[in-house]
Parts: sequence; structure tokens; C-alpha cells
Amino acid sequence: MSRPGPEHMYKFFFNVVFKRMDPEKAHYLAFRWIRLAARVPVLRTFVAAVLAPRYEELRTEALGLRMHGPFGLAAGFDKNAVAIDGMSMLGFDHVEIGTVTGEAQPGNPKKRLFRLVPDRALINRMGFNNEGSAAVAARLHARVPVFKTVVGVNIGKTKVVPEAEAAADYVKSTERLAAHADYLVVNVSSPNTPGLRNLQATESLRPLLTAVREAADRTVTDRRVPLLVKIAPDLADEDVDAVADLALELGLDGIIATNTTIAREGLGLKSDPALVKETGGLSGAPVKERSLAVLRRLHARVGDRLVLVGVGGIENAEDAWQRILAGATLIQGYSAFIYEGPFYARAIHKGLAARLAASPYATLAEAVGADNRKATA
Ligand SMILES: Cc1cc2nc3c(=O)[nH]c(=O)nc-3n(C[C@H](O)[C@H](O)[C@H](O)COP(=O)(O)O)c2cc1C
Repeated sequence: MSRPGPEHMYKFFFNVVFKRMDPEKAHYLAFRWIRLAARVPVLRTFVAAVLAPRYEELRTEALGLRMHGPFGLAAGFDKNAVAIDGMSMLGFDHVEIGTVTGEAQPGNPKKRLFRLVPDRALINRMGFNNEGSAAVAARLHARVPVFKTVVGVNIGKTKVVPEAEAAADYVKSTERLAAHADYLVVNVSSPNTPGLRNLQATESLRPLLTAVREAADRTVTDRRVPLLVKIAPDLADEDVDAVADLALELGLDGIIATNTTIAREGLGLKSDPALVKETGGLSGAPVKERSLAVLRRLHARVGDRLVLVGVGGIENAEDAWQRILAGATLIQGYSAFIYEGPFYARAIHKGLAARLAASPYATLAEAVGADNRKATA
């Protein structure tokens, strides 16, 4: 029998400590440890050396940015931009902070985060709890980076702002945050702000994205801030196509696919039905198939004209590799980090490097979308 490795130790720890704790409390506890470790120079250097080894062959260039690899932290984990170095220390090649809203807001009442352990999934209805665009902008402005990493800024609508005035709220966040963003994401796909996902309809999305683009260009004049839109896995296929066409028409830089799902049926969920019934967005393993399908569809539509970011149920290197073959230049994860622990990013990098070496592709960039090219050859 092989000796249990550190990954197994995390699983043991998860089962005896985190699993018994309220999920949101466990999140803040782990988050505190990560932030503390990142503040101690010797410790962070050691942790990064173990968890974030660099692979030359995984170096990625996208959105005009250079990254150590394609794998980043999805939005929602570091909503207020307090742990960018900590997450970089754990091996994430980019960190997407937010969602940040125009104004600060507390989010929904607790409990609002649920673990579906047998399904390796989460349900959340956090409702964009965050300190708001002014506070987050001030924090990013004051930040002295320890690790050089790409920082994406994901923005959304303040709950009390009516849908008809959404664009002004996004513009406010853009004006405050664009200067601090390596790339900017318009989030119109979280299920926990009433009406938000209606903004995915092209009639609403066109003026919104146009206004954000203009605001970014007005505020940041020394470079062009890349702009992406993040979409839901629950969009019908025709609506996915419509967003892709609109993104091309407006000269967007990319699309992030996908956010959490409101679906429950047909996903083979094994968890306690009372938990499954909780309102909110489902993430993790059960969203994998649909997120991959949406990505494939997007790539078939836009090819390499946009940077596609694959997210949703990426648990391991094989999942990450499948997203790359399906057309993702960048990939992200959140839920599996809770279940896999601090070795999550390391395992993905190691496995991706091995898969690339065993593949017919000379570079990772060559592998992007290879499945679709094969299908049309
Ligand atoms: C607790 C929680 C909070 C989230 N908050 C946000 C958010 O604020 N903004 C956003 O764009 N996505 C948010 N997400 C969605 C993730 O970024 C990601 O798109 C989704 O969870 C699918 O990836 P995963 O299966 O790897 O978790 C959140 C997800 C979780 C689990």
C-alpha cells in the first residue's frame, strides 16, 4: 500500500474539521490561514515553492497578458481582493476578484452556502456580499504585490439598483476599478441577484457592454483593458450563440463559461434532497458537462477570435485538459478547491504538463480548440 500523500491528509482534515463546520465559517477560517501565510516571507516562499512550481511549457499568453499557466481562481472566492498574493502562492496563475458591485452590500441572510459532499458540489446564494467598488478600488490601489500575478476584476449589479439602471452601476464600478484590472469581467450570470441574468438578453447586454467598454476607455487611456462577459450554463444554445455574436460585434476580448446553474434535475444528484432543494447556484462536478458543452459551442461559433475561459466543475488535470481541447485558453476553478484543498492547482499543472507532453501538440496554445478542429477536418 502506498503511503498517504499530503493530498490525502487534506481529505482527512476536510472530513474531521471543515465538514463539521458551517461552510461559510470554514471558508473564512481557511481564507485567514491563506492570508496569514502569505504575509510571512519565509513561509510564503516555501509554500509557493511546493504548491506553485512553474512549468515552462504551460506559460500562457492571453488577453495581451503573460501568465505562468492557464489556470486561475474563479470569481467569488476573493470578493474583496484581500488574498491575491495568498491565492497566487497556492498556484493560481491568475486571480479573478469580485464580484464587486457599485455600492457595498451585505448579501443574502445566512445560511447561504451549502456543501453537497456526495456530489462534490456546492450551492450558494451569497448574493454578492462585498465591500463595494470604492473600497475594493482603494485596496487594489494600495496593494504592493508580492507575487506577480494577473488580476481580473469581476463586476456586477448592486441589488437595490433597478434593472433599468444597471448600466450606470456597472459604469460606476468600471470607472473605479478598470485602472486596477488586468482584465475586466461583466458578470450577468449569477442567479442570486434578482433580474441579473435578464441582462444576458442581447437587447440589454448590448447597451451594457457598450457603456462599460466606453467607461473603461475613458478611465484608462494608457492601455486597452480587456473586457469579457461571464455567462450562465442555463442559457439555451441559441442564446449562447447570440452572446457570442454580440461579443464579436462589440469587439469584446473574451467570454467566461460558465457561472453556477439553477438546474437540479437530470444531474444525478445524490445528496440529501433537502439540501438539493436549497435556492441558489449549483457548482462543482454536476455543472461540468453543461459548462463543457457551452464552451464547445462558443468555440465552434467564434474559433480563436475571442479568448474563451472554461470554468465549471474542473476537478482535476483531465477536466482542465478537456476544456483546453474544447477551446479554452484559460481555465478556472472554485468548488473543487474546497474539496481538493491546497494541492488542487499543483495537481492541475502537473497533470496538464504530462498531458501536453504525451499529446501531438508542441505548445499549449496549439492544443486550444483541437477537438473542434478535428471535428470539422
Ligand atoms: C460560494 C460561491 C460564490 C461565487 N461567487 C461568484 C461571484 O461573486 N461572481 C461570479 O462571477 N461567480 C461566482 N461564483 C461562480 C464561480 O466563479 C464559478 O463560475 C462556478 O462556481 C463554477 O465553477 P466551479 O464548479 O469550479 O465552482 C461563485 C461560486 C461559489 C461556489
